[in-house]
Amino acid sequence: MLSEKIDVDKLEKSDKEHSSTTTAYGSRYFKTSIPKYELPDDGMPAQAAYQLIHDELNLDGNPALNLASFVTTWMESEADKLVMESMDKNYVDNDEYPQTQVIQERVVNMLARLFNAPKECQSIGTATIGSSEAIMLGLLAHKWTWRERRKAEGKSWDKPNIVMGADVHTVWEKFAKYFDVELKLIPLREDLYTITAEDVALEIDENTIAVGAVIGTTFTGQMDPIKEINDMLMEIRETKGWNIPIHVDGASGGFIAPFLYPDLEWDFRLEQVRSINVSGHKYGLVYPGVGWLIFKDKTDIPEDLVFNINYLGGNMSNYSLNFSKGSSTIIAQYYNFIRLGFNGYKDIMNNMAENAKYLADKLQQTGKFEVINKQMTFPLVTVRLKDTDFTVFQLSGKLREKGWIVPAYTLPENAQDIAVLRMVIKENFGRDMIELFLTDIMEAYHHLEKSEEKNDQKGKDNLTLLY
Ligand SMILES: Cc1ncc(COP(=O)(O)O)c(C=O)c1O
Repeated sequence: MLSEKIDVDKLEKSDKEHSSTTTAYGSRYFKTSIPKYELPDDGMPAQAAYQLIHDELNLDGNPALNLASFVTTWMESEADKLVMESMDKNYVDNDEYPQTQVIQERVVNMLARLFNAPKECQSIGTATIGSSEAIMLGLLAHKWTWRERRKAEGKSWDKPNIVMGADVHTVWEKFAKYFDVELKLIPLREDLYTITAEDVALEIDENTIAVGAVIGTTFTGQMDPIKEINDMLMEIRETKGWNIPIHVDGASGGFIAPFLYPDLEWDFRLEQVRSINVSGHKYGLVYPGVGWLIFKDKTDIPEDLVFNINYLGGNMSNYSLNFSKGSSTIIAQYYNFIRLGFNGYKDIMNNMAENAKYLADKLQQTGKFEVINKQMTFPLVTVRLKDTDFTVFQLSGKLREKGWIVPAYTLPENAQDIAVLRMVIKENFGRDMIELFLTDIMEAYHHLEKSEEKNDQKGKDNLTLLY
């Protein structure tokens, strides 16, 4: 009863007596409800707090069965150890943890080279929380450069715009809104799902701060024609004098193309590509959250955007949206680089690509699914259903009963009538898991085909795209 006065001394004595003869489950904390809305007056033994939260988290999905997210769900135990050893280091305290900063710079250098920055360039970059922060910082630098150039030329600088396809991740739209830049979004076309250089040419003008191009789109894993966009922009530069940079969103593709398609020109080999972001926590094979932003040359970032700070005990420069952040994922990225090397990454990417292709072929062969990303450039399979009277949303829900997490969603503008399932194949999703998944997806399919559940339209509202 609420009004009953609790005798705390008595309870504590009883807790002590019990703790040597029972487990956390025998303690009083397992017969009362867990504090949810207010900070409790008194705490509880560590063992009970741990067990309560641990048990509650069992309600989350199993990361190993999560085909929705691109984000890494497994690292080697040695990497786990390094992560735990550096959990207590705030990355921004560079003066206190100088070696961590040195390691960050090594990763930036390795990435600039992996992205084929020309030798004569002085590439610079930074670790971020993820690709979202990296994209915002990259685009901000381009906005700044454009504005300073316009000012110097005595021209208006109040109407910046950015051109990109509707295939971009939502963070690009966020950038336009948060940083007050007009968004020129090119709608998609059914059966293409990316933009073309001609589309871009129609949208750019003297106020375009940058063109966004994606390698490995969120929706279908496809790739914008970056080389063609670059060539068109070079021509515009010659004919009209507009020097429009490309920022490549390599959130997932940036860690795949260098290993699987080394001859594909999408990176700093192209003149107008001035900045690239990549998610370390996606195919960089590191836990969340780490992203990277690399500028082709130090002249691509205006000096006055970089803050020099001295209150952490030394002079240091900082270009970030966030200030404090953990060091462990940066260190884990370096671990992967020296542990795997180019060939180690390549082996993993090859396995993922082959397994994704196997899954796509098997699904296509059933005659029940149509694979949308037919070129299979990236280890991801996007399918739509053929001739059924149930939806991908229902199929996704049915798969969830078995523990599989597979997002269902509709494609962006102009292709919004197409609803798809997307399966991201990660390194810890081997051939055997794919076989098990194939059995379960077909079982779920046949169940829906026969069952009354197909008439339940509730699933239609159940958009489960996880970016
Ligand atoms: C193409 C693309 N860009 C940007 C992002 C955002 O990346 P992050 O989650 O690392 O912020 C994603 C996330 O999936 C993505 O697929």
